[in-house]
Amino acid sequence: MEQPSAFPVKTREMHNHHFDSTIWNEFPFRDDDIIIATYAKSGTTWMQQIVSQLIFNGIEGLEVAEMSPWLDLRIPPREVKMPPLEAQTHRRFIKTHLPLDALVFSPKAKYIFIGRDGRDVIWSMYNHHYNANQHWYDALNLTPGLVGPPIGKASDSVVEYFQEWLDKDGYPFWSFWQYLNSWWPARNLPNVHFVHFQNLKDDPAGEIKKIAAFLDIPVQGETFDAILEHCSFNYMKKNAVKAVPLGGAFWDGGAETFINKGVNGRWKDVLSAEESAKYEAIAAEKLDPACEKWIRTGQM
Ligand code: A3P
Repeated sequence: MEQPSAFPVKTREMHNHHFDSTIWNEFPFRDDDIIIATYAKSGTTWMQQIVSQLIFNGIEGLEVAEMSPWLDLRIPPREVKMPPLEAQTHRRFIKTHLPLDALVFSPKAKYIFIGRDGRDVIWSMYNHHYNANQHWYDALNLTPGLVGPPIGKASDSVVEYFQEWLDKDGYPFWSFWQYLNSWWPARNLPNVHFVHFQNLKDDPAGEIKKIAAFLDIPVQGETFDAILEHCSFNYMKKNAVKAVPLGGAFWDGGAETFINKGVNGRWKDVLSAEESAKYEAIAAEKLDPACEKWIRTGQM
């Protein structure tokens, strides 16, 4: 059946040390699937925890990372990733980091998109990359199917790391601006819900209620209190092993390294006013003004 033209249509594949976008091409969607989409380091794991808590009424001990794979990560390969996902009998929730023009979009699945200021993203990414261990490099660089250059070590300076990302349009990952530009026009579709990291931080109860309503999951009373508690930073840090990919095996310090600080603005005392202004000028040049404002502040 032809998709209504208002729905996004995939126009390209993306391959690099992390991505293999082709896995979505034959993906057998279910009508109640939930897709969690972020550029990276924007609260993906947090949203996976929230969605798991909503689906399972606030119970503890869920193997969230295992239940909710990053589908377009090229490892493990689809033969390993797909069977357990197809065997799931509960409502599925799947993670993606693809720009929307490289993702197959189902008009019936529900998409939760999370945004975070690029400076916060890179401060978080630096911790992720700098503390990655040899298993991470080997998995990304030595697993067959690598397209493009391998990923190298992170600089010893977070500012240098940030500048290189900014100057080389997302290096060594993918373009932040293109990513945002691909998703922004979809924000008002009935099956898409935008969340900003800062808003989730400022008002978790309000934002989680909106997410529950979007997913048609009724929650109240003690169950809601349990959900809130299980999605708090302190709870997730303490129970990071179940929430973080591979229980944190890819990072020095394990899963707790991944659930690092959980706050925005750590760059404020580190970047100079000129460096920050340069980021803002590029954001203003690359993004629709409303998108630039939203990603910086969370205000629509
Ligand atoms: P920091 O590195 O800034 O601490 P992702 O899951 O997309 O990789 O994002 C990881 C970021 O989300 C990390 O940010 C992590 O600490 C933060 N995070 C995860 N759970 C959180 C929570 N419950 N509250 C606040 N931040 C959380």
